Amino acid sequence: MKGHKGWLDIPIMAAPRGKPSSKRPLWILVLISLVCLSLIVVYLHPPQQYSSCYLLSKVCDHLDYWLPPVPARVLTDEEIISKAVIGDILSMQFPHKKSSKIAFMFLTAGSLPFEKLWEKFFLGNDGRFSIYIHSSREKPIHVSPLFIGRDIRSEKVSWGQISMVDAEKRLLANALQDANNQYFVLLSDSCVPLHNFDYVYDYLMETNISFVDCFEDPGPLGAGRYSENMLPVIEKKDWRKGSQWFSIKRQHAILLLSDSLYYTKFKLFCKPAMEGNRNCYSDEHYLPTLFNMADPTGIANWSVTHVDWSEGKWHPKLYRAEDITFELLKKIKSIDENFHVTSDAKKVIMQKPCLWNGTRRPCYLFARKFYPEAIENLMNIFSNYSDF
Ligand SMILES: *[C@@H]1O[C@H](CO)[C@@H](O)[C@H](O)[C@H]1NC(C)=O
Ligand SMILES: *[C@@H]1O[C@H](CO)[C@@H](O)[C@H](O)[C@H]1NC(C)=O
Ligand SMILES: *[C@@H]1O[C@H](CO)[C@@H](O)[C@H](O)[C@H]1NC(C)=O
Ligand SMILES: *[C@@H]1O[C@H](CO)[C@@H](O)[C@H](O)[C@H]1NC(C)=O
Repeated sequence: MKGHKGWLDIPIMAAPRGKPSSKRPLWILVLISLVCLSLIVVYLHPPQQYSSCYLLSKVCDHLDYWLPPVPARVLTDEEIISKAVIGDILSMQFPHKKSSKIAFMFLTAGSLPFEKLWEKFFLGNDGRFSIYIHSSREKPIHVSPLFIGRDIRSEKVSWGQISMVDAEKRLLANALQDANNQYFVLLSDSCVPLHNFDYVYDYLMETNISFVDCFEDPGPLGAGRYSENMLPVIEKKDWRKGSQWFSIKRQHAILLLSDSLYYTKFKLFCKPAMEGNRNCYSDEHYLPTLFNMADPTGIANWSVTHVDWSEGKWHPKLYRAEDITFELLKKIKSIDENFHVTSDAKKVIMQKPCLWNGTRRPCYLFARKFYPEAIENLMNIFSNYSDF
């Protein structure tokens, strides 16, 4: 959707300004004659080693280049609106100020077991963060004054349903109302910080991309969840997968809330147990697919929230109190490559360095999933492990 300047724009832009347009056909004629001439020369003197097939494909190459591309299908009103709005949002500048804040948005079921740990993390950074809590099951009981009064109006969230995306949008809509919020981090109740606040703030604020997990999985848990009912708006080649725990810049938060075209396709055609026994989970596909289509180079393709799937179970590794050591946190913090595994029989492992503004850096700022019982041990070593 970006890059509205196709190659077709170039001749128009290159034409000297102020010249009458009647001059244009002349140089086009000259150009065409030159191409024809060169084709005739090639035809009359074909290089010995090439077959006529080769010649034909060469001619076709030339034709491909010189003929305008096949006209794209006619877009619907919704698609034109989406193209215009997203294009405009992506062209906007969002300069950071001294007063810029990061919005920490907690998507929880009830109370937050790590509130006291987060309080340690936030301490001394007034004016540089804001907190929003969406609690889908019961009203949280807060133990930290930083979290009191920060609950937003919430609704029930069903696992894998569009209501999960709705809750994420609800959090964003609340957080966007504070014009100082420039970065938006989605966290769960089992997430903990890995670094101190300054490190996290600089990591997110001094880059111009969003950290949205995104990869192409040809297997049953990736492409296998795509529905052709999404055509022609979303093609199978556009379909992506990724963890839902995003950290996005303000521009992308606005883009996400402005979208109804793609959102509606997911709401209708991506849900658990649809079309027989096929499962699709919007929270794992909507954001990766949307950003892959709207602004592929604007996302890092990995999430800054670490999770360990290496045990190969349906749920990621859960850390208990006894697992919490300085070494464990150091190990997670030192990872500077992101991994994705396809869900087909080949189980292809895609391993890429985490490039932050072009340089290799540790990938993760936060981690999940931790049992509530881990809080004591985490509190004890937080100032030790978070200080680098
Ligand atoms: C990011 O990269 C650009 C160009 O490589 C550089 O000018 C800029 O200073 C970098 N930003 C940071 C925070 O390192
Ligand atoms: C981010 O900044 C770099 C230079 O530091 C630039 O090359 C790149 O195009 C920018 N990306 C986006 C999405 O604005
Ligand atoms: C993310 O992946 C897309 C292709 O899917 C690529 O164009 C983009 O450059 C990647 N982002 C970064 C920051 O490398
Ligand atoms: C942090 O923990 C490591 C490993 O237990 C230890 O070697 C180091 O001295 C500790 N640092 C501080 C400042 O307590």
